[in-house]
Amino acid sequence: MSEELLHQVTLNGAGPVHIAVIMDGNGRWARGRALPRPLGHQAGMRAVREAVEGALAAGVEVLTLFAFSQENWQRPADEIGALMALLEEYIAREMADLKQQGVTVRFLGDLERLPQAQRAAVERLMAHTEGGTRLALNICISYGARAELTRAARLLAEEVRAGRMAASDIDEEQVARRLYTSAFPDPDLLIRTSGELRLSNFLLWQLAYAEIYVTPVLWPDFQRQHLWEAILEYQRRDRRFGKVTA
Ligand code: IPE
Ligand code: IPE
Ligand code: MG
Repeated sequence: MSEELLHQVTLNGAGPVHIAVIMDGNGRWARGRALPRPLGHQAGMRAVREAVEGALAAGVEVLTLFAFSQENWQRPADEIGALMALLEEYIAREMADLKQQGVTVRFLGDLERLPQAQRAAVERLMAHTEGGTRLALNICISYGARAELTRAARLLAEEVRAGRMAASDIDEEQVARRLYTSAFPDPDLLIRTSGELRLSNFLLWQLAYAEIYVTPVLWPDFQRQHLWEAILEYQRRDRRFGKVTA
């Protein structure tokens, strides 16, 4: 059944090149099983592997996952501690396979806020997987879109002050070049799990024309066929970009 989905995705062709995912619902998944929230996050970590392998199989070029937001730093210390421990565990467990699968991993966000061990681990994974050509996997951690845009504004202001550019040179391309995602095309498709209908400060600039797909599936239950279903739905959409369809 799921192989049929993949077959259909491949037959249809035509993207999406870049998929962004708001991985939400770990807490509710745990609550539904009367488990502590960290066990929901642990189960969510397994779903990341599903998403990555589903993207590889479908020929997606860029996968950008929202793993931990700037606002998530306001969660209780023990939950943050559990998430940080899982981050290290994920890196230790997946590093060799990601490299072998041709995945280049990048972490996007304010990485300076990470504890030292996690900071070192993310740097290690990025260095180890550099040069993979099948999939660019971006993991957004300590990420907030408004902070990202504010940082871009600051970088531009510094360049103007230093006389390297004029204020009148600032255009959309110059802004986009100073975002964490500068190396990638904008996401074509945004998936949010657990049924929430909001962006939660994720990629506000880059999602300007993304197709939005919300599924009630909780992130720990997310499997590769869910990704392929979302891609099939995307392939049925009519993207107009403000124009009139021919
Ligand atoms: C998403 O799951 C993971 C993170 C935000 C770190 P949640 O922890 O937000 O799960 P819910 O929304 O409470 O179910
Ligand atoms: C968004 O989920 C952040 C991540 C998935 C990492 P949240 O659970 O933090 O979002 P809100 O609080 O429901 O908007
Ligand atoms: Mg949530």
